[in-house]
Amino acid sequence: MKLADNKATLSFSNGSPSVDLPVYQGSIGPDVVDIRKLYAQTGMFTYDPGFLSTAACQSAITYIDGDKGELLYRGYPIEQLATQCDYLDTCYLLLNGELPNTSQREDFHKLVINHTMVHEQMQMFLRGFRRDAHPMAVLTGLVGAMSAFYHDSTDVHNAQHREIAAIRLIAKMPTLVAMAHKYGAGQPYMYPQNNLSYAGNFLRMMFGTPCEEYKVSPVLERAMDRIFILHADHEQNASTSTVRLCGSSGTNPFAAIAAGVACLWGPAHGGANEAALNMLEQIQHDGGVAKVGEFVAKVKDKNSGVKLMGFGHRVYKNYDPRAKLMQQTCNEVLDELGLHNDPLFALAKALEKIALEDDYFVSRKLYPNVDFYSGIVQRAIGIPVKLFTGVFALARTVGWIAQLNEMIGDPEYKIGRPRQLFTGAVRRDVQPIAKR
Ligand code: SDX
Repeated sequence: MKLADNKATLSFSNGSPSVDLPVYQGSIGPDVVDIRKLYAQTGMFTYDPGFLSTAACQSAITYIDGDKGELLYRGYPIEQLATQCDYLDTCYLLLNGELPNTSQREDFHKLVINHTMVHEQMQMFLRGFRRDAHPMAVLTGLVGAMSAFYHDSTDVHNAQHREIAAIRLIAKMPTLVAMAHKYGAGQPYMYPQNNLSYAGNFLRMMFGTPCEEYKVSPVLERAMDRIFILHADHEQNASTSTVRLCGSSGTNPFAAIAAGVACLWGPAHGGANEAALNMLEQIQHDGGVAKVGEFVAKVKDKNSGVKLMGFGHRVYKNYDPRAKLMQQTCNEVLDELGLHNDPLFALAKALEKIALEDDYFVSRKLYPNVDFYSGIVQRAIGIPVKLFTGVFALARTVGWIAQLNEMIGDPEYKIGRPRQLFTGAVRRDVQPIAKR
């Protein structure tokens, strides 16, 4: 970042001395006002719950232009990566800053594929969960538990440890997600096969059984890989900010990523894909497209507390580019599976059309986000609804790691410790119980 040829002057109407604050600019996107010295100079904090106007860090990984609906991973548009690269290429790009050449690509793919097995005792760990536990509860536990198995890669300040922890996490997440699924289904685990692609391996571990050969469908394999690419990183979203804050204490990478999994679970964030599909199924159950108008009316009624899940975004005030690509993937998969008149897909498109013509949504710049169509395509692939967010966590692991490593490598980084505006009781003395 570099000093902008601009500066901010903060003045106070109560006669307190004004303060000059430096303004920095990045390569693209909004400039920032550096307030790091504000408290020392004025005895005041800034106030920004939800961080609507706060840049918590500088980063070179992912850029989003919410007004244009643009998403770049290390400068490459998501539309090009999703159609010209695969997920492991995207992982290499997010971690290293450049797309791999042929030999780098081969080495990286081989490295990841050869780390897909998990410690055999992970199976004992899984046995402690109820069979009907939510897969995200299981995954939060399994990812955190990795720090109990891989003691040789827990020092986040050791570059070699960070590198092997990154490979282990990227390689083992599909295995752990599939194990959580098989455990809930009461089926035997499928061990990874090193001769399969990353996405093909995941599909086989999810849907294969020891009883017969599992044939990977190239269309589903491509769709799965694209879903992974679309979810790989997304700037300083809630779960990435959680990973950064957690990692800023110097805890190990597995613990920091487990914190990201836990945050992603929320329905306002990664849990929205599960919630969006449940919403579509409920409308379908209540009468389908004929009931969309009634549902939208409920969403517009503030007292209902009902939101249109899969719509709206803190940053995108235009169509989420990932939602467009997800809709295309939906079309391809549903056509391939002969489900092109899937009622839920038709319902989603009808709901989107009505919402995008309704002033409530238009005036609030509410558009479909990545979660609106992802549930439909995952359901068509056969992924259980409760596992949708687990797939999101699988794909986002590389983004979390890249952001964590960027922070650790940033000489400016400190342990994150926000302050507050205190509105509670001022100092008072404890009274004897008889006087309370
Ligand atoms: C992800 O940050 C990221 O990058 C996240 C993510 C990633 O890749 O990491 O992109 C993934 O989390 C996508 C978002 C998934 N969540 C959902 O689809 C849940 C539904 N969406 C909303 O909960 C909401 O839109 C948020 C949480 C996504 C954004 O909320 P904001 O930015 O805090 O906006 P807001 O709640 O202040 O909404 C502004 C207005 C409000 O109305 P008014 O008070 O102005 O009258 O829009 C309304 C909101 O009530 N609104 C919605 C709505 N989303 C916002 N009304 C109905 N349905 C919705 N979905």
